[in-house]
Amino acid sequence: MDEVIRKGPPELTPTLPDYARACADFSWDTARAELAGLPGGGLNIAFEAVDRYATSAPERVAFRFLRRGGEVEDLTWAGLREGTARFAGVLEGLGVRPGDRVFALAGRIPELYVAALGTLRHGAVFCSLFAAFGPEPIRTRMEIGAGRVLVTTPALYTRKVAPIRDRLPALEFVLLTGDPNACPEGTLSLTRLLEEATPTKEAAQTREDDPALLHFTSGTTGKPKGALHAHGAVIWHRLSARWALDLHPEDVYWCTADPGWVTGVSYGIVGPLTNGVTSIVDEGEFNPERWYRILDEQRVTVWYTAPTALRLLIRAGMDLPRAVDLSRLRHVASVGEPLNPHAVRWGVEALGLPIHDTWWQTETGGILIANLAAEDIHPGAMGRTLPGIEAAILARRGDALEPAPPGEEGELAIRAGWPSMFRAYLNEEARYRRCFKDSWYLTGDLARRDADGLLWFVGRADDVINSSGHLVGPFEVESALMEHPGAAEAGVIGKPDPVAMEVVKAFVIPAAGRAPDEALRAELMAYARKRLGPAVAPREIEFVTTLPRTRSGKVLRRLLKARELGLPEGDTSTLEEAS
Ligand code: PRX
Repeated sequence: MDEVIRKGPPELTPTLPDYARACADFSWDTARAELAGLPGGGLNIAFEAVDRYATSAPERVAFRFLRRGGEVEDLTWAGLREGTARFAGVLEGLGVRPGDRVFALAGRIPELYVAALGTLRHGAVFCSLFAAFGPEPIRTRMEIGAGRVLVTTPALYTRKVAPIRDRLPALEFVLLTGDPNACPEGTLSLTRLLEEATPTKEAAQTREDDPALLHFTSGTTGKPKGALHAHGAVIWHRLSARWALDLHPEDVYWCTADPGWVTGVSYGIVGPLTNGVTSIVDEGEFNPERWYRILDEQRVTVWYTAPTALRLLIRAGMDLPRAVDLSRLRHVASVGEPLNPHAVRWGVEALGLPIHDTWWQTETGGILIANLAAEDIHPGAMGRTLPGIEAAILARRGDALEPAPPGEEGELAIRAGWPSMFRAYLNEEARYRRCFKDSWYLTGDLARRDADGLLWFVGRADDVINSSGHLVGPFEVESALMEHPGAAEAGVIGKPDPVAMEVVKAFVIPAAGRAPDEALRAELMAYARKRLGPAVAPREIEFVTTLPRTRSGKVLRRLLKARELGLPEGDTSTLEEAS
């Protein structure tokens, strides 16, 4: 028998009180009809997120920014409309056209949020890059996305963008936050442009299928993939946030994810705003004391975070949660990695609530599977599909993939066509098409479904590394390492880690004439950190004399991993051990 955590009577009626009924009654037309829609027809994410509430509740706080220095800055819906209309005016003035790509590279500062929504309002495509990326991941992504505009801070520009600027021919405008008089040559002051801009009167007349958001994710091979989402995604952002995060209008909601990742946009910006819910945005990095203090002082009621952060809080001990008042918390959810049953139970003890696992991906644009507020929790299960979503476990039968019966493992697949489904991998039509089989979108995750319809995560079907909920493509790391003259070859895997789930580990064959010593290791580590940034660079480097490869030359990462873990090597018939 599975363990079950029974829930007491809810404080508020859950937004999805009766799952079976909601599934039976579900229709996409009804979901769509809940949105305001543009006055002249069409759909625009920024209009749903900003204008709608700027009219009905202008003085309500949309974002409360907790700045690094300790200051608190509130941005009301009226303020957000003013800021985003000005940002759209800036883009207009620069001649940015619908569909053009506007990138941001910044921490969780107000300008980033204004730029995101202002870009959508203007009808351009927004893409946020994680500020901890090094110059190389920034360059690859901006090149694939052909970013025309970049919003960033002076410090990030100088350190990470200026050195690669001449390799970004599509980049015309760099808009810098902060002091207008401190902008280096080739950049413009965002502060001044916003002051001088004429706010645009209305959101662009975008339609459901027009591109809106671009998020990069990592694959096993080749470059990062630019998953493109359309304005219609807002239908699901709104509904899934309400259902899976149990958002009620009076909530104070804190999503700890950075907008450099999809969670920080779908549920750090669009989900709460389109539900008229106030969000806390913390500019600081993870810190157990501060996080507990934020939950207490900001009276957070709904909290969306990640398993790695929860594991770090568990490590920090019980004294911290005991010293604060967490009685306002009503719903806690997590995403990005498997949520251990221990963490779910710890939630009950430390926070007074179990943690609700949710599952989704960059490609799905929004939560598709969740443990629901109205239901008991089976620790370790990802939950069930939200109404409107159909999942299958596809198992291999000869050459075919077929829906498997309960209990059998297979690839998790989702019936294609929900509104926040990615519409393309930018410039990679064939790679996009390979994700679909008949009417199913293949997620690349292995899972099983039990007889009650609950889905359980089994693992990834590919070599992509999940480090603290961030997907890292081994190829990107291997390529960077091999550009160092001291490395002849590299193979990269995810090594299991008790906190981060996996950490990036590289196996390197030193270049001819280089000894496999500490000096080379330190050099490679520093080089990788500088080029890739701490979120992507390997945590560990091991020198080897050979790397297992297939006859066609691909590094057999699976074998490297099996050896690392001391597991059986499995089928090695295609192996060609090369040095
Ligand atoms: O492998 C799954 C894992 O994270 C992948 C998606 O990562 P990304 O596209 O970066 O999006 C992260 C934010 C949604 C999935 O393919 N993953 C996500 N949620 C879970 C999970 N693994 C286990 N349990 C989850 N709840």
